[in-house]
Amino acid sequence: DYQLPLAGRTVTVSGGGTREPLDPVRFLGNRSSGKQGVALAVAARNAGATVRLVAAHMEVPAPAGVDLVTVETALELREAMLAAAADSDVVIMAAAVADFRPAEISGTKIKKRDDTADPVISLVRNPDILQELVEVRDHAPENQASRRSQLIVGFAAETGDGQGDVLTYAEAKLKRKGCDLMVVNHVGTDKVFGQDSNSVVILARSGAEPQLAAGTKTEVSAAVITRVGYELNHVSP
Ligand code: C5P
Repeated sequence: DYQLPLAGRTVTVSGGGTREPLDPVRFLGNRSSGKQGVALAVAARNAGATVRLVAAHMEVPAPAGVDLVTVETALELREAMLAAAADSDVVIMAAAVADFRPAEISGTKIKKRDDTADPVISLVRNPDILQELVEVRDHAPENQASRRSQLIVGFAAETGDGQGDVLTYAEAKLKRKGCDLMVVNHVGTDKVFGQDSNSVVILARSGAEPQLAAGTKTEVSAAVITRVGYELNHVSP
């Protein structure tokens, strides 16, 4: 009797890039295309999961067959992820979250004037959503076994002089954030943002051997989702 690996599971994926408003017409953003988040949502759906995609700004359309929640800022993404995580077996943070947001949002368009000094934008830190999701999971009551066994996956885009450096940084990040799996992109001379293909290493908190996956974002996503299925079905209780 064949069963899809994520049948009966609920998976929440974040994707795209947050936009942090400066005034009614301007924002600070990033180059995330949303392709990775969409590919992960599709892979999870194809593996039989009920999928929620929490989408910040994306250049690609959302896929069919997933529940879509759209957000703009990091704070909105945080609210949506905390709400969605409450009943998710798996949470994957593939969104490019702005680390900082403007300290103040001007209610009117910031004007260019000759008689005043050039504006200075001050920034404040955004919360680390991935880290918060881990903390919430780890503080769930003892009797909520399914909540406490939630699998949390992060992404990391690392630069380094060599593969060793990248893995060292990524392992430190995995420990710091406390997620179960960390999908590491080596961003060097070849760009990842907006690109269709990717080469990643999947690191596990359990200390399992680093797993390599390369190919299109679709292929990488299939590998990540296969690994998620393995962790749920073979590793955790
Ligand atoms: O620290 P860094 O930004 O490299 O970590 C990347 C991972 O953390 C990604 O999974 C990203 O979605 C998540 N993240 C987050 N909240 C932030 C910044 C990053 O959840 N404020």
